[in-house]
Amino acid sequence: MSKQNLQEIDTNEYPHLNRGLEGIVAFSTSKSSIDGQKGELIYSGYNIDTLAENATFEEVCFLLWNDRLPDKSELNHLKERLIAERNVPEPVLNYIKNTNKEAEPMAVLRTATSMLADFPPEKSNDQISDFQNQAIALTAQMPIIVAAFDRARNGKSIVPPLDHGSTAFNFLYMLNGDEPGEQAEKVMDLCLILHAEHGMNASTFTARTICSTESDIYSAIAGAIGALKGPLHGGANTAVMNMLLNLERKGKDADPVQFTLDKLEKKEKIMGFGHRVYKTFDPRAFHLRKMSKALSEETGYQTLNKWSESILKTMKDEKNIDPNVDFFSATVYYSIGIKPDLYTCIFSMSRVSGWTAHFLEQAANNRLIRPRALYTGEKNLEWVPVDQR
Ligand code: SDX
Repeated sequence: MSKQNLQEIDTNEYPHLNRGLEGIVAFSTSKSSIDGQKGELIYSGYNIDTLAENATFEEVCFLLWNDRLPDKSELNHLKERLIAERNVPEPVLNYIKNTNKEAEPMAVLRTATSMLADFPPEKSNDQISDFQNQAIALTAQMPIIVAAFDRARNGKSIVPPLDHGSTAFNFLYMLNGDEPGEQAEKVMDLCLILHAEHGMNASTFTARTICSTESDIYSAIAGAIGALKGPLHGGANTAVMNMLLNLERKGKDADPVQFTLDKLEKKEKIMGFGHRVYKTFDPRAFHLRKMSKALSEETGYQTLNKWSESILKTMKDEKNIDPNVDFFSATVYYSIGIKPDLYTCIFSMSRVSGWTAHFLEQAANNRLIRPRALYTGEKNLEWVPVDQR
């Protein structure tokens, strides 16, 4: 039978072949809703603009895990639990101290997160409450891993975590060795809120797929970190900053408009633009754009901000493509002194709340995720002994 005939048969049997699963609805969820035409994002009932204006990251974690906002005592309790879980076991810290200093921070985060599976919080006989406790522990521990690796790779001692303060505050403190100011904490907290959850993106799908085999939450989060790392997904924020810094290296010849036109001419992607779901401005990018402008005026990085705006205008004029969450988050992190290769780790430190919320949702109503693939190879070939091939 010819290869073409085989494909025809298989296509009839599986008519839904869809490269990239575009538009396929694989789950129902109460965690978030995205309206790609309107540019609207909702986390468990609350518009992202409302959350950006009013919430803290800890409140968003509670919201995603429980589908409702906490009252005051529930919020305080969660904050205390997140603080109590701010400890990374010695063997994991030893790995962080001894691994290759040149390693990619996302690879180190993935490995260290995977190692945490060997040291979970005390288990009960209720699997769902074990998963909830593990979700809290992971959310508390991932920022510590990121800060500790950055210190270790720079030959600095690891700063012990604080027994007070928000996730954002403690992360910046452990990263820099000094307590952050109110504004830096607020910027970091808002970034954590904006990145927490986003429907069935590639990393969340990965986490749910791993959950669906009844595997453990650490495997799911390690897998999700691996998926987020790629430049078509969360890795784009580092790529955006590298793009801007490469432009800066050109000195007086730097021309962001021509740079964008040249890349488009060569059919190359401009990092931080485009989205599978949004056909308009990503609502998270509004907040990040505003922050990027305000911070660049304070820190003197106005040129980077001006270039970002020129690239944005050129992309809109030439391709009618808008920026996504990764475009302005790059200059926001840069303005508060964070190294570009840590940006995707910060995305992970936030998205762990959404990943674990989806894990809990999947575990509560599970069915194995197992799609099909259209086979395009030959069938029933004759075996030829190795010395006759
Ligand atoms: C995130 O899904 C999520 O929710 C993800 C995320 C989250 O919160 O989890 O929002 C976070 O991952 C944001 C995306 C970060 N990635 C980038 O910024 C990388 C650059 N962007 C792309 O490569 C692209 O836009 C994707 C990967 C984001 C989306 O890819 P799709 O949906 O498969 O779209 P496509 O690549 O098929 O592009 C469609 C068209 C093409 O043109 P034509 O061939 O139809 O003429 O749009 C063009 C593309 O060439 N295009 C771009 C472009 N993005 C799309 N052209 C230039 N630069 C770009 N960035």
